[in-house]
Amino acid sequence: MPFAVERLKINYKTLEEFKKFREYGLQELSMLEDLQANIIEDDADSPFYGIYDGDALVARMSLYLIDAKYDRYFDPPQDFYELMKLEVLPAYRGRGLGRMLVEHAKSLGKPIKTNARLGSAPFWEKLGFVPVKYDPERDRGENPYVWLPDGVRLAPTKPRGEGRKPNA
Ligand SMILES: CC(C)(COP(=O)(O)OP(=O)(O)OC[C@H]1O[C@@H](n2cnc3c(N)ncnc32)[C@H](O)[C@@H]1OP(=O)(O)O)[C@@H](O)C(=O)NCCC(=O)NCCS
Repeated sequence: MPFAVERLKINYKTLEEFKKFREYGLQELSMLEDLQANIIEDDADSPFYGIYDGDALVARMSLYLIDAKYDRYFDPPQDFYELMKLEVLPAYRGRGLGRMLVEHAKSLGKPIKTNARLGSAPFWEKLGFVPVKYDPERDRGENPYVWLPDGVRLAPTKPRGEGRKPNA
C-alpha cells in the first residue's frame, strides 16, 4: 500500500505508538493524562500528523497554528505553523517519508517555522526552508528555519541593541 499522511487522533492506541519515537515527552504525557481524566474525548484531533505502515506508526510531526499576534518571523505578520517533532523511525528513513510530512504541512498554505536540529539543516534546505538570522531574545537557543509561501517575506531583523536586555 502506498504511504499517506493522516491527521492523528488522540486515543490509547496512538499514544502507545508514540512511545516508539525518540522525542517522547511532556506533550505526549499530558495528552495521556487529559484522555484519562476525560478532559479530551477519545479520538479527538491531535496536533500530530503521521504515516502508517499497516498498523504501525512509522513517521510523525506536530503542527501548531500560532496566532498572527505572536508572529515575529514573517512579513506581513500572520498566522503560521510551528512544525515540531518531525521524526521518521530509523528503518524507514531515506524513503521520502520526511519529505511527505513536510510537503503536507506546506500544502496547508501558511508559512512554517521549525527548529532545525543539529545535522538536519541540509534536509530542511532541500525542502525549500531558509535559515533565519538568530535573534537571542526571540529564538532562545533554537536554530530556526522557515518556509515562505508566495508573497510572504522574512520579518526585518531588529538593529542591535533594540529590544529587551538580557535579564531585564
Ligand atoms: C531528518 C529526517 C526527518 C528525514 O526523514 P527521511 O524520511 O529520512 O527523509 P526523506 O527520505 O524524505 O528525504 C528527503 C530529502 O532530504 C534528503 N535528506 C534526508 N536527510 C538528510 C540529511 N540528514 N542530510 C542531507 N540530506 C538529507 C534526502 O536525501 C532526500 O533528498 P532527495 O529527495 O533529493 O533524495 C529523519 O532522518 C529523522 O527522523 N531524523 C531524526 C530526527 C530529526 O533529525 N528530525 C529533524 C527535525 S529537527
